[in-house]
Amino acid sequence: MESVKYAMYSQLLIRIRSLVATDGPVPSMANIAAALKEACGFFWVGFYLVDGDRLTLGPFQGPVACSQIAFGQGVCGTAWKERRTIIVPDVERFPGHIACSALSRSEIVVPILLRGQVVGVLDADSTELDRFDKVDAEFLAEICRLVSTKF
Ligand code: SME
Repeated sequence: MESVKYAMYSQLLIRIRSLVATDGPVPSMANIAAALKEACGFFWVGFYLVDGDRLTLGPFQGPVACSQIAFGQGVCGTAWKERRTIIVPDVERFPGHIACSALSRSEIVVPILLRGQVVGVLDADSTELDRFDKVDAEFLAEICRLVSTKF
């Protein structure tokens, strides 16, 4: 199962690289969100960008989401503060999780690093419990490295 997922992400990464090759940050993030939603079937997937002391909603695919998240708040603000990927197998067990939708059950947030600073995060939510693993973390981090080159 893990190898099927690995193969899917490898293909997707090739597609995304060519899709965003000549684009700036906003169209790149918009098409990456669309490609991830389509290929991975996430409930919600998108970007939050550092804007002073908070994260502001960026390009995404899925239901309406909260537009501002403070530093250290929720899964996104924690990934920013701790500068690391956070996998949440069950959102109800993550203290301070921000529930944009009651349907979301598990989540992964990956920071976008530029010269060691977090400039944004990539957030994906699933309606399934325990949907995300180290394969997701590895490929979503690769996508974040690609996005960081657009800033
Ligand atoms: N659950 C996130 C908020 C963003 S939504 O999932 C789109 C959090 O706790 O930071």
